Amino acid sequence: MYGEQPSIQSEFLTAERLVVHPGDCLRLLRDVPDGAIQLVVTSPPYNLGKEYEKRLHLDAYLAQQAEVIRECVRCLAPRGSICWQVGNYVDRGAIIPLDTVLYPIFVELGLRMRNRIIWHFEHGLHCSKRLSGRYETIVWFTKSDDYVFHLDPIRVAQKYPGKKHFKGPKAGEYSCNPLGKNPGDVWVIPNVKSNHVEKTEHPCQFPVELVERLVLSLTDEGDWVLDPFLGSGTTVVAAIRHGRRGAGAETVPGYVSLARRRIMQELDGTLRTRSMHKPVYDPAEANNSLRNPPWKNEGAPVQLTLFEQPEEKGEYDTKSRYPRPIRT
Ligand SMILES: C[S@@+](CC[C@H](N)C(=O)[O-])C[C@H]1O[C@@H](n2cnc3c(N)ncnc32)[C@H](O)[C@@H]1O
Repeated sequence: MYGEQPSIQSEFLTAERLVVHPGDCLRLLRDVPDGAIQLVVTSPPYNLGKEYEKRLHLDAYLAQQAEVIRECVRCLAPRGSICWQVGNYVDRGAIIPLDTVLYPIFVELGLRMRNRIIWHFEHGLHCSKRLSGRYETIVWFTKSDDYVFHLDPIRVAQKYPGKKHFKGPKAGEYSCNPLGKNPGDVWVIPNVKSNHVEKTEHPCQFPVELVERLVLSLTDEGDWVLDPFLGSGTTVVAAIRHGRRGAGAETVPGYVSLARRRIMQELDGTLRTRSMHKPVYDPAEANNSLRNPPWKNEGAPVQLTLFEQPEEKGEYDTKSRYPRPIRT
Protein backbone atom coordinates (compact mmCIF):
# COMPACT_ATOMS: atom_id res chain seq x y z
CA MET A 1 0.00 0.00 0.00
CA TYR A 2 2.89 2.35 0.74
CA GLY A 3 4.59 1.94 -2.65
CA GLU A 4 5.40 5.60 -3.05
CA GLN A 5 6.07 7.77 0.01
CA PRO A 6 2.74 9.31 1.18
CA SER A 7 2.71 12.80 2.66
CA ILE A 8 1.37 13.60 6.11
CA GLN A 9 -1.80 15.70 5.96
CA SER A 10 -2.93 18.07 8.71
CA GLU A 11 -6.67 17.63 8.08
CA PHE A 12 -8.69 14.45 7.58
CA LEU A 13 -9.43 13.43 4.00
CA THR A 14 -10.78 9.93 3.39
CA ALA A 15 -8.73 9.51 0.21
CA GLU A 16 -5.45 10.22 2.04
CA ARG A 17 -3.39 7.80 4.10
CA LEU A 18 -1.69 9.72 6.92
CA VAL A 19 -3.02 12.57 9.05
CA VAL A 20 -1.44 14.35 12.01
CA HIS A 21 -3.72 17.16 13.07
CA PRO A 22 -1.89 19.82 15.10
CA GLY A 23 -4.71 20.75 17.45
CA ASP A 24 -7.73 19.55 19.36
CA CYS A 25 -9.07 16.09 18.60
CA LEU A 26 -12.66 17.31 18.35
CA ARG A 27 -11.57 19.57 15.51
CA LEU A 28 -10.00 16.60 13.68
CA LEU A 29 -13.02 14.40 14.31
CA ARG A 30 -15.39 17.04 12.92
CA ASP A 31 -14.00 16.37 9.43
CA VAL A 32 -14.23 12.59 9.65
CA PRO A 33 -17.31 11.19 7.87
CA ASP A 34 -19.72 8.89 9.73
CA GLY A 35 -18.50 5.30 9.80
CA ALA A 36 -15.10 6.04 8.17
CA ILE A 37 -12.86 4.62 10.90
CA GLN A 38 -12.37 0.90 11.50
CA LEU A 39 -10.36 1.23 14.73
CA VAL A 40 -10.05 3.99 17.31
CA VAL A 41 -7.18 3.28 19.67
CA THR A 42 -5.88 5.73 22.21
CA SER A 43 -4.37 6.43 25.56
CA PRO A 44 -6.07 9.64 26.72
CA PRO A 45 -4.73 12.02 29.36
CA TYR A 46 -5.40 10.47 32.80
CA ASN A 47 -6.15 13.82 34.47
CA LEU A 48 -3.03 13.55 36.63
CA GLY A 49 -1.82 17.09 35.92
CA LYS A 50 0.93 16.06 33.49
CA GLU A 51 2.52 18.88 31.55
CA TYR A 52 0.07 18.42 28.66
CA GLU A 53 -3.12 18.49 30.74
CA LYS A 54 -4.94 20.65 33.22
CA ARG A 55 -6.12 18.66 36.21
CA LEU A 56 -9.91 18.80 36.32
CA HIS A 57 -12.58 17.71 38.75
CA LEU A 58 -13.30 14.07 37.88
CA ASP A 59 -16.82 14.88 36.63
CA ALA A 60 -15.48 17.58 34.30
CA TYR A 61 -12.82 15.18 33.02
CA LEU A 62 -15.42 12.48 32.35
CA ALA A 63 -17.67 14.97 30.55
CA GLN A 64 -14.74 15.92 28.31
CA GLN A 65 -13.92 12.27 27.62
CA ALA A 66 -17.60 11.56 26.87
CA GLU A 67 -17.63 14.26 24.20
CA VAL A 68 -14.60 12.75 22.45
CA ILE A 69 -15.91 9.19 22.80
CA ARG A 70 -19.29 10.22 21.33
CA GLU A 71 -17.57 11.67 18.28
CA CYS A 72 -15.37 8.58 17.92
CA VAL A 73 -18.48 6.35 17.97
CA ARG A 74 -20.04 8.46 15.22
CA CYS A 75 -16.91 8.01 13.08
CA LEU A 76 -16.69 4.27 13.77
CA ALA A 77 -17.47 1.75 11.00
CA PRO A 78 -20.38 -0.63 11.71
CA ARG A 79 -17.92 -3.55 12.20
CA GLY A 80 -15.34 -1.34 13.94
CA SER A 81 -13.75 -1.25 17.39
CA ILE A 82 -12.72 1.28 20.02
CA CYS A 83 -9.82 0.50 22.38
CA TRP A 84 -9.30 2.95 25.27
CA GLN A 85 -6.07 2.36 27.16
CA VAL A 86 -6.12 3.77 30.70
CA GLY A 87 -4.61 3.54 34.16
CA ASN A 88 -5.67 5.11 37.44
CA TYR A 89 -6.72 8.60 38.40
CA VAL A 90 -5.25 9.34 41.83
CA ASP A 91 -7.16 11.57 44.25
CA ARG A 92 -5.31 12.38 47.49
CA GLY A 93 -3.78 8.91 47.58
CA ALA A 94 -6.98 7.07 46.63
CA ILE A 95 -7.03 5.42 43.22
CA ILE A 96 -9.94 5.44 40.78
CA PRO A 97 -9.47 2.94 37.95
CA LEU A 98 -10.42 5.05 34.94
CA ASP A 99 -11.87 2.17 32.95
CA THR A 100 -14.54 1.63 35.61
CA VAL A 101 -15.76 5.22 35.45
CA LEU A 102 -15.52 5.40 31.63
CA TYR A 103 -17.36 2.10 31.10
CA PRO A 104 -20.89 3.58 31.49
CA ILE A 105 -20.10 6.19 28.81
CA PHE A 106 -19.35 3.51 26.21
CA VAL A 107 -22.35 1.39 27.20
CA GLU A 108 -24.76 4.34 27.06
CA LEU A 109 -23.57 4.97 23.51
CA GLY A 110 -24.65 1.43 22.63
CA LEU A 111 -21.20 -0.15 22.49
CA ARG A 112 -20.53 -3.73 23.57
CA MET A 113 -17.47 -4.66 25.56
CA ARG A 114 -15.44 -7.55 24.14
CA ASN A 115 -12.44 -7.64 26.44
CA ARG A 116 -10.86 -5.81 29.30
CA ILE A 117 -7.22 -6.46 28.55
CA ILE A 118 -4.72 -6.26 31.38
CA TRP A 119 -1.44 -4.79 30.17
CA HIS A 120 1.17 -5.93 32.69
CA PHE A 121 4.66 -4.41 32.87
CA GLU A 122 7.51 -4.59 35.34
CA HIS A 123 8.63 -1.00 35.80
CA GLY A 124 7.10 2.13 37.28
CA LEU A 125 6.80 4.22 40.42
CA HIS A 126 7.58 2.54 43.73
CA CYS A 127 4.72 3.25 46.12
CA SER A 128 5.26 3.33 49.85
CA LYS A 129 1.63 3.42 51.03
CA ARG A 130 0.06 0.94 48.61
CA LEU A 131 1.26 -1.77 46.24
CA SER A 132 3.15 -0.42 43.25
CA GLY A 133 0.96 -0.30 40.14
CA ARG A 134 2.17 -2.74 37.51
CA TYR A 135 -0.72 -2.91 35.07
CA GLU A 136 -3.06 -0.73 33.10
CA THR A 137 -6.07 -1.79 31.06
CA ILE A 138 -7.27 -1.60 27.49
CA VAL A 139 -11.02 -1.69 27.26
CA TRP A 140 -12.15 -2.99 23.87
CA PHE A 141 -15.67 -2.18 22.64
CA THR A 142 -17.40 -2.88 19.33
CA LYS A 143 -20.21 -1.05 17.66
CA SER A 144 -22.21 -4.18 16.90
CA ASP A 145 -22.14 -7.93 17.42
CA ASP A 146 -20.80 -8.37 13.89
CA TYR A 147 -17.25 -7.08 14.15
CA VAL A 148 -13.85 -7.66 12.56
CA PHE A 149 -11.63 -9.96 14.62
CA HIS A 150 -8.62 -11.81 13.21
CA LEU A 151 -7.02 -14.14 15.72
CA ASP A 152 -4.35 -15.79 13.55
CA PRO A 153 -2.04 -12.76 13.08
CA ILE A 154 -1.73 -12.27 16.83
CA ARG A 155 -1.35 -15.85 18.00
CA VAL A 156 1.60 -16.51 20.31
CA ALA A 157 3.84 -19.55 20.70
CA GLN A 158 2.28 -22.60 22.33
CA LYS A 159 3.71 -23.65 25.67
CA TYR A 160 3.79 -27.37 24.69
CA PRO A 161 3.77 -27.61 20.89
CA GLY A 162 4.80 -31.27 21.07
CA LYS A 163 1.73 -32.30 23.10
CA LYS A 164 -0.56 -34.92 21.52
CA HIS A 165 -4.14 -36.11 22.13
CA PHE A 166 -3.75 -39.18 24.28
CA LYS A 167 -7.21 -40.67 23.68
CA GLY A 168 -10.25 -40.41 21.44
CA PRO A 169 -10.42 -40.33 17.64
CA LYS A 170 -7.47 -37.90 17.44
CA ALA A 171 -5.17 -39.91 19.72
CA GLY A 172 -1.53 -39.51 18.65
CA GLU A 173 -2.16 -36.30 16.70
CA TYR A 174 -0.71 -32.98 17.86
CA SER A 175 -3.33 -31.26 19.99
CA CYS A 176 -2.35 -27.63 19.54
CA ASN A 177 -2.82 -25.16 16.72
CA PRO A 178 0.49 -24.96 14.80
CA LEU A 179 -0.15 -21.22 14.26
CA GLY A 180 0.09 -20.66 18.03
CA LYS A 181 -2.39 -19.95 20.78
CA ASN A 182 -4.77 -17.12 21.58
CA PRO A 183 -2.69 -14.46 23.43
CA GLY A 184 -5.36 -14.17 26.13
CA ASP A 185 -6.44 -11.00 27.88
CA VAL A 186 -3.30 -10.47 29.99
CA TRP A 187 -0.57 -8.97 27.86
CA VAL A 188 2.94 -8.84 29.25
CA ILE A 189 4.65 -6.10 27.29
CA PRO A 190 7.46 -3.85 28.59
CA ASN A 191 6.39 -0.25 29.12
CA VAL A 192 8.38 2.54 27.49
CA LYS A 193 10.80 3.61 30.22
CA SER A 194 14.32 5.02 29.95
CA ASN A 195 16.04 1.89 28.58
CA HIS A 196 13.33 1.06 26.05
CA VAL A 197 14.44 1.40 22.44
CA GLU A 198 11.33 3.49 21.63
CA LYS A 199 11.79 6.07 24.43
CA THR A 200 11.45 9.68 23.32
CA GLU A 201 10.92 12.92 25.22
CA HIS A 202 7.18 12.13 25.49
CA PRO A 203 6.43 11.11 29.11
CA CYS A 204 3.67 8.55 28.42
CA GLN A 205 4.20 6.65 25.19
CA PHE A 206 2.61 3.27 24.80
CA PRO A 207 4.74 0.66 23.01
CA VAL A 208 4.26 0.11 19.27
CA GLU A 209 3.86 -3.66 19.76
CA LEU A 210 0.81 -3.12 21.98
CA VAL A 211 -0.98 -1.19 19.22
CA GLU A 212 0.23 -3.62 16.55
CA ARG A 213 -1.77 -6.42 18.19
CA LEU A 214 -4.92 -4.32 18.04
CA VAL A 215 -4.31 -3.19 14.47
CA LEU A 216 -3.66 -6.73 13.24
CA SER A 217 -6.66 -8.27 14.97
CA LEU A 218 -9.27 -5.54 14.53
CA THR A 219 -8.63 -4.10 11.05
CA ASP A 220 -7.86 -5.07 7.45
CA GLU A 221 -5.27 -3.57 5.12
CA GLY A 222 -6.24 -0.12 3.89
CA ASP A 223 -8.55 0.56 6.88
CA TRP A 224 -8.35 3.79 8.86
CA VAL A 225 -6.95 3.65 12.41
CA LEU A 226 -7.46 6.85 14.45
CA ASP A 227 -5.97 8.09 17.72
CA PRO A 228 -7.59 11.27 19.11
CA PHE A 229 -4.70 11.76 21.61
CA LEU A 230 -1.75 10.93 19.37
CA GLY A 231 1.21 11.95 21.57
CA SER A 232 4.41 10.75 19.94
CA GLY A 233 2.57 9.13 17.01
CA THR A 234 2.71 5.48 18.14
CA THR A 235 -0.72 4.53 16.78
CA VAL A 236 0.03 5.88 13.30
CA VAL A 237 3.41 4.10 13.31
CA ALA A 238 1.68 0.77 14.10
CA ALA A 239 -0.92 1.43 11.38
CA ILE A 240 1.72 2.15 8.71
CA ARG A 241 3.68 -0.94 9.68
CA HIS A 242 0.74 -3.13 8.69
CA GLY A 243 -0.48 -1.30 5.60
CA ARG A 244 -3.32 0.60 7.30
CA ARG A 245 -4.09 4.34 7.12
CA GLY A 246 -3.40 6.35 10.26
CA ALA A 247 -4.81 9.59 11.69
CA GLY A 248 -4.41 11.43 14.97
CA ALA A 249 -4.58 14.78 16.74
CA GLU A 250 -2.11 16.29 19.17
CA THR A 251 -2.28 19.70 20.85
CA VAL A 252 1.33 20.14 22.01
CA PRO A 253 3.43 21.45 19.10
CA GLY A 254 6.61 19.66 20.27
CA TYR A 255 4.78 16.30 20.26
CA VAL A 256 3.27 17.05 16.85
CA SER A 257 6.81 17.44 15.47
CA LEU A 258 7.89 14.29 17.31
CA ALA A 259 4.96 12.30 15.88
CA ARG A 260 5.72 13.53 12.36
CA ARG A 261 9.40 12.65 12.77
CA ARG A 262 8.65 9.12 13.99
CA ILE A 263 6.14 8.59 11.18
CA MET A 264 8.71 9.69 8.58
CA GLN A 265 11.26 7.34 10.15
CA GLU A 266 8.74 4.50 10.02
CA LEU A 267 8.10 5.24 6.36
CA ASP A 268 11.79 5.17 5.46
CA GLY A 269 12.43 2.12 7.65
CA THR A 270 14.71 3.78 10.22
CA LEU A 271 12.42 3.87 13.28
CA ARG A 272 13.77 1.56 15.97
CA THR A 273 11.06 -0.35 17.83
CA ARG A 274 10.78 -3.42 19.99
CA SER A 275 9.58 -6.40 17.95
CA MET A 276 6.19 -7.88 18.83
CA HIS A 277 7.80 -11.32 18.75
CA LYS A 278 10.68 -10.56 21.11
CA PRO A 279 10.37 -12.37 24.46
CA VAL A 280 10.35 -10.21 27.58
CA TYR A 281 13.88 -9.89 29.02
CA ASP A 282 14.47 -12.48 31.71
CA PRO A 283 17.49 -11.59 33.92
CA ALA A 284 17.82 -15.23 35.07
CA GLU A 285 17.88 -16.57 31.52
CA ALA A 286 20.38 -13.87 30.52
CA ASN A 287 22.49 -14.81 33.58
CA ASN A 288 22.66 -11.14 34.53
CA SER A 289 25.21 -10.81 37.35
CA LEU A 290 23.23 -7.97 39.00
CA ARG A 291 20.71 -10.62 40.05
CA ASN A 292 23.08 -11.83 42.79
CA PRO A 293 22.47 -9.93 46.03
CA PRO A 294 25.92 -8.72 47.16
CA TRP A 295 25.03 -9.46 50.80
CA LYS A 296 24.68 -13.15 49.91
CA ASN A 297 28.03 -13.31 48.19
CA GLU A 298 29.43 -16.28 50.09
CA GLY A 299 32.87 -16.25 48.53
CA ALA A 300 33.59 -12.63 49.51
CA PRO A 301 36.25 -12.02 52.16
CA VAL A 302 34.72 -11.21 55.51
CA GLN A 303 35.89 -8.02 57.12
CA LEU A 304 36.66 -8.35 60.81
CA THR A 305 34.47 -6.36 63.16
CA LEU A 306 35.97 -3.84 65.56
CA PHE A 307 36.59 -6.06 68.60
CA GLU A 308 37.19 -9.27 66.71
CA GLN A 309 40.60 -10.91 67.14
CA PRO A 310 42.08 -12.64 64.11
CA GLU A 311 42.59 -15.91 66.04
CA GLU A 312 38.86 -16.03 66.94
CA LYS A 313 37.90 -16.17 63.28
CA GLY A 314 37.23 -19.91 63.22
CA GLU A 315 34.48 -19.52 65.81
CA TYR A 316 32.60 -17.00 63.73
CA ASP A 317 29.97 -17.61 61.07
CA THR A 318 31.93 -16.24 58.11
CA LYS A 319 29.03 -16.82 55.69
CA SER A 320 27.03 -14.09 57.33
CA ARG A 321 27.28 -10.54 56.07
CA TYR A 322 27.87 -9.42 59.63
CA PRO A 323 30.14 -12.06 61.19
CA ARG A 324 28.76 -13.26 64.50
CA PRO A 325 29.78 -16.01 66.93
CA ILE A 326 28.50 -19.47 66.08
CA ARG A 327 26.22 -20.61 68.91
CA THR A 328 26.56 -24.22 69.89
C1 LIG B 1 -1.22 9.78 27.28
S1 LIG B 1 -0.66 10.81 26.00
C2 LIG B 1 -0.71 9.75 24.59
C3 LIG B 1 0.61 9.13 24.27
C4 LIG B 1 0.60 8.26 23.05
N1 LIG B 1 -0.22 7.08 23.26
C5 LIG B 1 2.02 7.86 22.66
O1 LIG B 1 2.29 6.67 22.51
O2 LIG B 1 2.85 8.74 22.52
C6 LIG B 1 -1.99 11.89 25.70
C7 LIG B 1 -1.68 12.96 24.67
O3 LIG B 1 -2.87 13.65 24.35
C8 LIG B 1 -2.56 15.01 24.09
N2 LIG B 1 -3.80 15.77 24.24
C9 LIG B 1 -4.38 16.21 25.39
N3 LIG B 1 -5.57 16.81 25.12
C10 LIG B 1 -5.74 16.73 23.77
C11 LIG B 1 -6.78 17.15 22.90
N4 LIG B 1 -7.89 17.76 23.36
N5 LIG B 1 -6.65 16.89 21.58
C12 LIG B 1 -5.54 16.26 21.10
N6 LIG B 1 -4.52 15.86 21.89
C13 LIG B 1 -4.61 16.08 23.21
C14 LIG B 1 -1.45 15.31 25.10
O4 LIG B 1 -0.67 16.41 24.72
C15 LIG B 1 -0.67 13.99 25.13
O5 LIG B 1 0.44 14.03 24.26
